[in-house]
Amino acid sequence: MKKRTFPLSKVYGLLETGPVVLMTTAHRGQTNVMTMSWKTMVDFEPPLVACVVSNRNHSFEMLRKSRECVLNIPTVEIARQAVACGNSSGRRLKNKIEALGLTAVPAKTVGAPLIAECYANLECKVVDTSLVKKYGLFFLEVRKAWVAPQKKWPATLHHCGRGQFIVAEKTIRLRSKAK
Ligand SMILES: Cc1cc2nc3c(=O)[nH]c(=O)nc-3n(C[C@H](O)[C@H](O)[C@H](O)COP(=O)(O)O)c2cc1C
Repeated sequence: MKKRTFPLSKVYGLLETGPVVLMTTAHRGQTNVMTMSWKTMVDFEPPLVACVVSNRNHSFEMLRKSRECVLNIPTVEIARQAVACGNSSGRRLKNKIEALGLTAVPAKTVGAPLIAECYANLECKVVDTSLVKKYGLFFLEVRKAWVAPQKKWPATLHHCGRGQFIVAEKTIRLRSKAK
């Protein structure tokens, strides 16, 4: 296979990190939402997720102080709103969820809201902040998960960088020893 050199600044798009999520937070009477693509599974059960939140984002302080959030997984039907959550800041837009036409509904175990239009919602507690200062890396334990049963293989959004997304729809099944 013939290759060409590839800019290091674009490498993250090659290693896209699973579906784009909308992270909701709540702190001192404000709720907020931001788009997030940099997150990874760390453990199976209880599910542990590591995610990078830049300290330039309003959500950074909301997550650090409240120590909880919801990871909402959108599908292509709400792609425009999902990306718009990443193009504005809750610092200025006080009710971003509503302003973008999304619906906040109460979660069961955390103060941050679920987004009703997302096909799955993961209620999370921050369990480790030891790498926040160095990398903005938060470890989240999923305490409660919700999923819309009618969508078995949902068309999730996968960020390849600079406004380019893969929409996941096709699935294949292979013999695999991975869990
Ligand atoms: C597709 C997409 C993916 C993003 N992924 C991340 C991410 O993983 N981590 C992060 O800190 N910001 C990420 N952002 C940027 C934030 O969503 C953006 O700065 C947002 O405006 C922050 O909102 P806030 O200030 O209300 O928290 C992403 C933005 C987009 C559009």
